[in-house]
Amino acid sequence: MEIKQNTSIVLFFIFCVFTSQLSYSDPGVVNGSQLRTYIVHLDPSTNIDYSDLEYGRWCMSFLPTTLDSTAATERMVHIYGDVIHGFAARLTEEEIADMEKKEGFISAYPDKTLQLHTTHTPKFLGLMNADAGPLMVDGGKGVIVGVLDTGVTPDHPSFSDDGMDSPPITWKGSCDLPNGMCNKKLIGYRNFIERYTKIHVTGDDDGNVTIFDDVGHGTHTAGTIAGAAVHNANILGEANGTAMGMAPGAHLAIYRVCSQYYGCPSSSILAGMNAAIKDGVDVMSLSLGSGPGEKYDMDSIAVGSFRATQKGIFVSCSAGNEGPGYKTVANEAPWILTVGASTTDRRITSVVKLGNGQQFEGQTLYQPKNFDPEQMRPLVGSNYDVDDIVNKIVYCGSGIALCQREEINYLVTNGAIGVIQGSYREQGYQTFARNHSLPSSDLTFNKGEEIINYINSTDNPTAKILFKHTIFNASPSPSMAFFSSRGPSVANPGIMKPDIIGPGVDILASYLPFIDRRPEAESSNHSFYIMSGTSMSCPHLSGIVALIKSRHKDWSPFAIKSAIMTTADILDRDGKPITNEMYVPANQFAIGSGHVNARKAMKPGLVYDVASDDYISFICQMNYTDKQLMVITGRNVKCSEFKKISIKDVNYPSISVEIPRNAHDYKVAVKRTVTNVNPGNSTYSLKLNLPKGVSVTVKPQLLNFSKIGQKKSFTVTFVKKKHLGTNSHYSHGYLSWIANKLDTVVRIPMIVKYNDQ
Ligand SMILES: *[C@@H]1O[C@H](CO)[C@@H](O)[C@H](O)[C@H]1NC(C)=O
Ligand SMILES: *[C@@H]1O[C@H](CO)[C@@H](O)[C@H](O)[C@H]1NC(C)=O
Ligand SMILES: *[C@@H]1O[C@H](CO)[C@@H](O)[C@H](O)[C@H]1NC(C)=O
Ligand SMILES: *[C@@H]1O[C@H](CO)[C@@H](O)[C@H](O)[C@H]1NC(C)=O
Ligand SMILES: *[C@@H]1O[C@H](CO)[C@@H](O)[C@H](O)[C@H]1NC(C)=O
Ligand SMILES: *[C@@H]1O[C@H](CO)[C@@H](O)[C@H](O)[C@H]1NC(C)=O
Ligand SMILES: *[C@@H]1O[C@H](CO)[C@@H](O)[C@H](O)[C@H]1NC(C)=O
Ligand SMILES: *[C@@H]1O[C@H](CO)[C@@H](O)[C@H](O)[C@H]1NC(C)=O
Ligand SMILES: *[C@@H]1O[C@H](CO)[C@@H](O)[C@H](O)[C@H]1NC(C)=O
Repeated sequence: MEIKQNTSIVLFFIFCVFTSQLSYSDPGVVNGSQLRTYIVHLDPSTNIDYSDLEYGRWCMSFLPTTLDSTAATERMVHIYGDVIHGFAARLTEEEIADMEKKEGFISAYPDKTLQLHTTHTPKFLGLMNADAGPLMVDGGKGVIVGVLDTGVTPDHPSFSDDGMDSPPITWKGSCDLPNGMCNKKLIGYRNFIERYTKIHVTGDDDGNVTIFDDVGHGTHTAGTIAGAAVHNANILGEANGTAMGMAPGAHLAIYRVCSQYYGCPSSSILAGMNAAIKDGVDVMSLSLGSGPGEKYDMDSIAVGSFRATQKGIFVSCSAGNEGPGYKTVANEAPWILTVGASTTDRRITSVVKLGNGQQFEGQTLYQPKNFDPEQMRPLVGSNYDVDDIVNKIVYCGSGIALCQREEINYLVTNGAIGVIQGSYREQGYQTFARNHSLPSSDLTFNKGEEIINYINSTDNPTAKILFKHTIFNASPSPSMAFFSSRGPSVANPGIMKPDIIGPGVDILASYLPFIDRRPEAESSNHSFYIMSGTSMSCPHLSGIVALIKSRHKDWSPFAIKSAIMTTADILDRDGKPITNEMYVPANQFAIGSGHVNARKAMKPGLVYDVASDDYISFICQMNYTDKQLMVITGRNVKCSEFKKISIKDVNYPSISVEIPRNAHDYKVAVKRTVTNVNPGNSTYSLKLNLPKGVSVTVKPQLLNFSKIGQKKSFTVTFVKKKHLGTNSHYSHGYLSWIANKLDTVVRIPMIVKYNDQ
């Protein structure tokens, strides 16, 4: 292989020092072809140590030879080494075609922009789940969580390091913030969106590059993971309490890979993961992603997380907000923890009382004290006359007819005194506590329809709005968030996804400073904001992973993942099956293994651990080529070198099998191995909840353990019953190992897919 010698000095500069000092004159178009950012994968078998200077020269040698060293430097966007073998650079299609001829090239694909997984309806409002509170004040001690997001607001009190220890000596990261802004809580801060911003600068933002969070998202997620205790945290006086992350003793390393203008380019995400691996984080939290069905070798999060888990780093990602439809789940790779979202038991309630005595409970955030709730007022429908709304309450539509912020401001300007709204039909029974500029109540879609009926049924409709403020113990809870993306996985139907659900509706956490001059806003001296999305549930899980990691330093990422999944709750607080947004029981494509139970996850009894190589075998069974395998694993390996493990036999903490609907006496057997993590002797007995249409036999039916680390295998055989008696395409059940003496239940979902072929 040829290595170009002259470019090393400039290059090393890029490689080691972030290149913001350079000025760019990116031409945009070269020889009539558009420049785009490509992510380029190089052959991992090439004998170059990526920590070596040579490696950078080698990457550089793939750029067009016609470029002088300055031009080449400008084209290079990121050089990776820890996360993938390769780089990101600005190139034309023709230049990529030339590059393909060079020895050591494997593949290249254009950069793309991933989305933050906050709900598409902006600025939903909410609070923190008391149940999911920290297990101890210094929970997560000694653990470093890398947050790949929009950055944070470093001077927020949630990132105070009072009482924190110094980071562990394994920490190798750095801080790009101005002097003194990093501390023992916020131990690292890197900006990987700056390079992208400088390349793509448009009229809109004139390259105004900030290193801080310019969205609020990253401040919110980082606060949820490991925020320090802040008293009197509230929003407009509601959801008041002590805000604290799941693992307040953990350290945070921030990788800014998204911004307001540019979303989250995968080239930046890879740069962030590259640094996080090199820096020595224990957990990575990514509340972002693309859509379902992404091929792993084209998916920077799948590729980056494969390499991370091989190094013992746990990767937790949001499932996406494309629900409630099926086959919408993102971040599907089996080595990732895929987190869906659920509601909590708090609501910020306002009640609508109609002139006919009907009463509807809704939600709203702004509950002013000077509003006289006892007074009935005229109620007008959405076809109101704008000159005739003074001192009236306006019903402002529901679903797609919902009033937007501007319309509500317009109502205020014209003298309306209150507003009632329905929600989107697909929200079912779920509403959000939102910040409006006047007294209001957000009702469900159906209740909104009843308001319309009432207005139509009488000549003088009247209503009043009663504020009930923040209430607890709402039922049912937890319940599936309507927006949370659902399985089955498109990319790997043989593995159940999502894995788990956690709080993601109306979550209160740290935020950007904002100005609200109303008296209700004065009750908190710091900015906290309510947001909803799987973006909010993912950091709850990342924090809980830090708690487990801190107690069990030697557990592999897959053991921790199993501990979280096998101990999850499948019943809600009333002891009924967890429901979806329509308040009917939700299936495993919605809840995965269930709702996270942090206390139980600390003592799972048994774990389903997975050897990394089993995932290589899995990738091969998914029919990826050797070239693609090299891209995903970053290793010089071939499928033929690995023993064949069928997808159903990957030691995942769930079982998915396919059975032809019309076959008779069809049998399929699955193997699993559990590892004991409990000291002392224990005996586990079997409990089955059968999926419809099959009988299941398990051998053996009893598992005895006498020491930590002991492994026991069992087989599960599914036999189709002659008469299926159902026309559903899937049926669901559970397999549990129960140690009565330990009060431990190790439960995994079983999913049977009936194929029509
Ligand atoms: C543009 O194309 C010409 C002719 O194909 C080639 O000689 C030249 O090197 C190209 N320039 C760049 C910057 O690629
Ligand atoms: C740059 O951003 C900062 C913070 O967001 C803002 O205060 C400032 O006005 C911006 N400057 C320009 C030129 O847009
Ligand atoms: C919040 O709670 C604290 C502690 O209970 C209390 O002192 C404070 O007045 C409360 N603030 C609001 C706005 O309710
Ligand atoms: C209410 O009345 C309006 C106008 O009379 C009509 O267009 C609408 O369909 C009615 N809606 C319902 C739900 O009855
Ligand atoms: C709530 O909305 C009002 C009116 O749009 C706005 O002035 C205020 O800043 C917002 N407050 C918060 C906390 O978002
Ligand atoms: C906010 O800060 C001011 C000044 O430091 C203080 O007087 C006030 O009590 C604080 N309010 C709350 C709710 O903490
Ligand atoms: C892989 O290819 C084989 C042979 O074409 C096919 O039978 C199998 O279903 C494929 N597996 C997947 C997961 O697509
Ligand atoms: C565990 O069981 C083994 C034999 O099965 C026995 O020798 C040993 O004493 C037991 N240990 C404890 C702590 O009960
Ligand atoms: C497992 O332990 C139970 C209770 O200690 C005992 O009755 C049973 O025979 C043991 N089974 C095996 C296979 O060792």
